[in-house]
Amino acid sequence: MYNEIDLDNIDINLEPPAEEPARQYYYMAKCREWVKDLGEKQGRMPRFCVVNMGCQMNARDSEKLTGILEQIGYTASREEEADFVLYNTCTVRENANHKVYGRLGYLNGFKKKNPFMMIGLCGCMMQEALVVEKIRKSYSFVDLIFGTHNIYKFAELLYTTIENRILSVKHNKKNSMVIDIWQDTDLIVEDLPTERKYFFKSGVNIMFGCNNFCSYCIVPYVRGRERSREAKDILREIEMLAKDGVVEVMLLGQNVNSYGKTLDSPVSFAQLLQEVEKISGIERIRFMTSHPKDLSDELIDVMKNSSKICRHLHLPLQSGSTDILQKMNRKYTKEQYLDLIAKIRSAMPDIAITTDIIVGFPGETEEDFAETLDVVRKVEYDSAFTFLYSKRTGTPAASMENQTPEDVLKKRFDRLLSEVQKIAVKKAEKYTGSTQKVLIEHRNEQDARLVTGRMSNNSVVHLPGNADMIGKTVDVTLTECKGFYYIGEAN
Ligand code: 5AD
Ligand code: SF4
Repeated sequence: MYNEIDLDNIDINLEPPAEEPARQYYYMAKCREWVKDLGEKQGRMPRFCVVNMGCQMNARDSEKLTGILEQIGYTASREEEADFVLYNTCTVRENANHKVYGRLGYLNGFKKKNPFMMIGLCGCMMQEALVVEKIRKSYSFVDLIFGTHNIYKFAELLYTTIENRILSVKHNKKNSMVIDIWQDTDLIVEDLPTERKYFFKSGVNIMFGCNNFCSYCIVPYVRGRERSREAKDILREIEMLAKDGVVEVMLLGQNVNSYGKTLDSPVSFAQLLQEVEKISGIERIRFMTSHPKDLSDELIDVMKNSSKICRHLHLPLQSGSTDILQKMNRKYTKEQYLDLIAKIRSAMPDIAITTDIIVGFPGETEEDFAETLDVVRKVEYDSAFTFLYSKRTGTPAASMENQTPEDVLKKRFDRLLSEVQKIAVKKAEKYTGSTQKVLIEHRNEQDARLVTGRMSNNSVVHLPGNADMIGKTVDVTLTECKGFYYIGEAN
């Protein structure tokens, strides 16, 4: 963890400070007192589990929430043994919501046996008013709900939840749920504690929210308007990470290519990358996600001339049909997308390109789908995430006519998946026999004699090795391609 703070110097008998992040440190100190008391009462320190259900942005938020819980004195555990369970939810597709309701019922069984157990819900799904209403009515055992705009306030909200819990146990009364959802904010609070899942790599938020309003997507409604962090804050965070042993950073945003446009002194994403590149100790720079309409020539040039920016670009296509792209409000045509790919490949022939594709957007005809298959065959993606279109209430696409029947949708999805897989396997094979730099990330989960790492282009490699190699970059000869990963040997 970095940003460790000295909570002992905070006088919790004073009034809470108004300014941030001092106010949150104050509440962390107050929560810590309670956690200590509960620990003494239970004869063990209270345990927590933050369950991440979403994308890389959510995963980064989960690390921040975990960092605060660890400062307070909670220790990490499995969900089933935790005194505080926090679900960081996703709502990009409908099935993510169903999963949360199912798991809440299961959790309630544990809560009934543990009077001080608390359940919290946060993340994108909580920004939907109907969801919060349903939880209030049908899942009244939940203790805390907050959204995506106020996660920095977590310590303060947790303290209110603790006070409620103490009162309800003392008076044997029903829970009163703490609910704090904001619709939007411009506020970005720096310098809160954060946990890091890996000591050698870290995600770094460079911006929040999205202004694109793709017609199928709920993200702009639940993550709010686009706002960028100041470049100096980002660079300071990465410098601290580098000093702490981090060699790889992943710059995170819903559309990193439009980074910096809303700052008082605008900075382009390409300029930011050049500054990150100067930080000594950082060996690899990744970023996620790009939007084809904003990917500049300047960025291609900076990537081409960089020895640190990884040879991987995730460039969501969504559909290969210009008609559907227009209905999706993506602001590029099939031809413009293909031209962009050609430009990127001519600058960096070895770059891996991955994508997201949605099957069955309203009104998608067999001809439209054939256009998507055509782009997939032309681009030859190294891998692709394929999704069945999911109707999200409140988005423009939800009220469009001609929603595709489910059986047609599933058949198209299977056809797309098999095409994508066939190409990915063919492409992967071309590296067999070559030597590549691999950053070792962890021990192999199935075989303790192996370790697992990633190449610059994001391909996964398994090789014989030991825990001492974790966090190091090694030259590896790729001896065999197993379709979606390689087997290799360190040189
Ligand atoms: N239905 C299906 N997939 C969706 N995505 C976003 N919204 C939807 C939806 N309503 C996909 C897009 C995006 C990825 C993160 O999720 O492909 O790039
Ligand atoms: Fe959603 Fe489009 Fe924004 Fe991506 S760019 S988060 S798909 S609205």
